[in-house]
Amino acid sequence: MGGVTPVRLGVNIDHVATVRNARGGQLPDPVRAALLAQAAGADGITAHLREDRRHIRDADMARLKAEIGIPLNFEMAATDEMVSIAIHTRPHACCLVPEKREERTTEGGLDVVGQKADLSPRIAALKAADIRVSLFIAAEAEQIAAASELGAAVVELHTGAWCDALAEGRDTEAEAEFARLAAGAQQAATLGLEVHGGHGLDYATAERMAALPQIAELNIGHFLIGEAIFLGLEGAIGTMRKAIIRGEAQRPDSRAG
Ligand code: PXP
Repeated sequence: MGGVTPVRLGVNIDHVATVRNARGGQLPDPVRAALLAQAAGADGITAHLREDRRHIRDADMARLKAEIGIPLNFEMAATDEMVSIAIHTRPHACCLVPEKREERTTEGGLDVVGQKADLSPRIAALKAADIRVSLFIAAEAEQIAAASELGAAVVELHTGAWCDALAEGRDTEAEAEFARLAAGAQQAATLGLEVHGGHGLDYATAERMAALPQIAELNIGHFLIGEAIFLGLEGAIGTMRKAIIRGEAQRPDSRAG
């Protein structure tokens, strides 16, 4: 079908900052990576300002906002400190994620059902500042319904459990996880939410996600930054773009031509 909007590719540059911070100092510069990603066709840049500042720092976020010309997706915990930094930074979007200091990465989705009272005023404050609010959640019916009730514009479905199951050869579980993602994407779109996906995606899993008709955006970081060691950022992003286009071509609504 001609009118389908292409799936947007958001490039997460956190792990350029991880490499920088391993040595201290200024190099490699995550903003340079963001500008290269933009030149290579990324549709947006994602960066996560963690409470412990283990990769992205406050100054990185300010420079990203000032220097890139594509939408900035500010990933953050739903805390007063982060809401205040986001309102000051004015990114295109904020993706609210759970955060525990001891974890290596964002391991589960946000518990929107359990944290409604805490999330509600923070979502309202971000929306009042004209920032699109996305909630990073597992593809569970009650979490999706709660995200809609709280007035989020977007849900980002957590693809990590699916990707982990696939990588570890737990194929039956992987298929069950993928079925959950597909059903969640459908439910969210029916409720009027824009549907994104992210966490742990590589070429093959991004292709499969892009084949789900409701997916509007995929946010990908660790794999792309790793691939950039071998292919360069431009090569990695170009190869990812081709995978996403292959996925889109598999959508039921794209076959009619
Ligand atoms: N989306 C969200 C909400 C995330 O928290 C992360 C990890 O920071 C990603 C996407 C990207 O995940 P990965 O680095 O595994 O591609």
